[in-house]
Amino acid sequence: MTQTCGVRKMRRKGLAIMAVHTADHTDRTTATDSPFADAFGPAAALSCRECGTRFPLSPIFACQECFGPLEVAYDLPVGDPEALRRQIEAGPASIWRYAPLLPVPADVATKRNLHPGWTKLVKADNLARELGITGGLHVKDDSGNPTHSFKDRVVAIALEAARTFGLTTLSCSSTGNLAGAVGAAAARAGFRSCVFIPHDLESAKVVMAAVYGGDLVAIEGSYDDVNRFCSELIGDPAGEGWGFVNVNLRPYYGEGSKTLAYEIAEQLGWRLPDNLVIPIASGSQLTKIDKGLQELIKLGLVEDKPYKIFGAQAEGCSPVSAAFKAGQDVVRPVKPDTIAKSLAIGNPADGPYVLDIARRTGGAVEDVNDAQIVDAITLLARTEGVFAETAGGVTVGVLRKLVETGQLDPASETVVLNTGDGLKTLNAVEASARPTATIRPTLAAFREAGLA
Ligand SMILES: Cc1ncc(COP(=O)(O)O)c(C=O)c1O
Ligand SMILES: [Zn+2]
Repeated sequence: MTQTCGVRKMRRKGLAIMAVHTADHTDRTTATDSPFADAFGPAAALSCRECGTRFPLSPIFACQECFGPLEVAYDLPVGDPEALRRQIEAGPASIWRYAPLLPVPADVATKRNLHPGWTKLVKADNLARELGITGGLHVKDDSGNPTHSFKDRVVAIALEAARTFGLTTLSCSSTGNLAGAVGAAAARAGFRSCVFIPHDLESAKVVMAAVYGGDLVAIEGSYDDVNRFCSELIGDPAGEGWGFVNVNLRPYYGEGSKTLAYEIAEQLGWRLPDNLVIPIASGSQLTKIDKGLQELIKLGLVEDKPYKIFGAQAEGCSPVSAAFKAGQDVVRPVKPDTIAKSLAIGNPADGPYVLDIARRTGGAVEDVNDAQIVDAITLLARTEGVFAETAGGVTVGVLRKLVETGQLDPASETVVLNTGDGLKTLNAVEASARPTATIRPTLAAFREAGLA
């Protein structure tokens, strides 16, 4: 019997590759295959998302059978959820409390890294009231990470993999936040870093990427050009010994986003919300949050209940949202044009998987325009005291639109993600966030300005 699902999905991604795989998935791993097994904790192998073939843990990212993306497969500690819950709760206030569920060594918390995570889950009653949400609303505020975006989570896992594989230079293609996270992590861990960004990013993101002392290369082109260039560099002798966190270390990198799912569930008292609103650039974060939620259910750490995943894009870069609305499986690449530069990936690698997850869970993928993004940033700031970067404006704006259009039930409980800090995208709001008045330092002038 042949399995055609691999073929179907590759067609969906527009790849000109035909391959048919046997239904019983090939296992190319043996217990002794990976010399690194101990360094990856509960991780057992890399597994192809398309055909299921397993490979030893190593710095590879594409299936040798079908070119599908690889992800980490685990032997998870199923059996005693109470003991696992206690172990996690006794752990450090960082993502390392979840080390038993991640591809990292058991002593990871003692190593030189940035210890990201355990960020605030803000109960957003004021925002809920403004949006007409009655079932409860929380903002998972990842601006509190060491370099002020969720990217510290994914980089921390990739860094440990780079250390294990003996790679000496840490690198990435970035829409901004990742470059800063890689630069900082490399500085702390004693790696060389060389990161690549599009030339037209916000100045705060350029400074954040350069200040940690590694090499920063601005490429004359879009993020998709930067990413293509990095793929070429990986195959070149110039890239030897380099760990591109989101390319050749991508299977490990992606796992960092699972910690958002774990934290949200633990901070809600070990239970799942009804809805999650998550931004999409490549789509990796959204797919791994879903993976994390599924693991929590499988491990018995939370009660098995339905949840809906909603993806959020900027209208000026909305290929996944467009495919969702058109009922299509293929994500057609676009040329981004939006103030949400951190989400400006026109050809998102995980787009088809995002569509699968939104459809499977009964969620949706929506988009908002630049004006709605700015409105949402100021709405969140004014109601909850949380200053989000444009990616947070996208999620909050999309949440508002989902409620207004009846796609999200306001009587159900929602968690909306803010994945980055507003200080990084000041340009988005600086026209409207101005002094109320500029006056002489006298009471008379204060009264004249109508402020008394
Ligand atoms: C602030 C912020 N949020 C969300 C994302 C989305 O990440 P992903 O590529 O995993 O979809 C990014 C990606 O750069 C980002 O910088
Ligand atoms: Zn495969």
